[in-house]
Amino acid sequence: MASPEVPLGDPVDARARDSATRFMREEPPDRGPHDPGERLGRFHTGRGPMPISGWIHYPAAWWRARRGQTPDRPWIVPAAIGWLRRRIRRDWSILELGAGRSTAWFARRAHRVLSFEDNQFWFEATSEQLSRSGLLNVDLRFRSVEDFPREVAGLPHAAFDLVVIDFLESPEVTRVDGLRPAREKVRPGGYLLLDDSDRPSYAKADDLLAGWRRKRFTGVKDAWPEVCETTIFRRPRK
Ligand SMILES: C[S@@+](CC[C@H](N)C(=O)[O-])C[C@H]1O[C@@H](n2cnc3c(N)ncnc32)[C@H](O)[C@@H]1O
Repeated sequence: MASPEVPLGDPVDARARDSATRFMREEPPDRGPHDPGERLGRFHTGRGPMPISGWIHYPAAWWRARRGQTPDRPWIVPAAIGWLRRRIRRDWSILELGAGRSTAWFARRAHRVLSFEDNQFWFEATSEQLSRSGLLNVDLRFRSVEDFPREVAGLPHAAFDLVVIDFLESPEVTRVDGLRPAREKVRPGGYLLLDDSDRPSYAKADDLLAGWRRKRFTGVKDAWPEVCETTIFRRPRK
């Protein structure tokens, strides 16, 4: 079942263009903390060694990286992409914090995508990719990371089938701060994806989503030298 409609603005709204121009004159924002935690090596996440499922995808990833190829798909663990490909339905509404190649990938598969991006370069690159592909079902909004939690809190509850938390955090606002308001926006039975979920600073997500089912995917992302984890949580139906 599709979720209640969230009003979408123009595909790339005028306010976003103003903000983009304003931010172009400013220094790049501080980034972090992105604490990867203690790892035994690049084939270990903070939680442990890469499982067999990660090794199965590894030769293809290695070969693509060697040839400088990056597929047009979300920048998350490949097994999670396969899982999403099977799960996403045409009538889904998706909320994304952190745009990129994933935005067009979701837009091709879902009814609509609302995406927040704070980096001017990636905002423009994503806008261009959407225009080139003729994808009109994306509301891409340029906002500072510090505004993400408030913007998300203002959206209707239970309005999204999938919420994706994958933005570059600032010292003031982490992915967990984005997740806090975002979890209420997932419809009962819907999904919340947290990328790099093995980072110790994201452990709080497990408490915030207590009672949700979870599926962890571990492997090597496109063009990334070390193993990572993507977790997809499922909100209880009741
Ligand atoms: C981890 S990226 C994830 C972006 C997006 N969800 C995806 O899967 O393509 C987080 C941030 O890095 C920037 N970014 C987007 N695409 C990127 C790319 N291909 N390479 C480097 N940084 C990227 C954007 O500012 C984005 O919000």
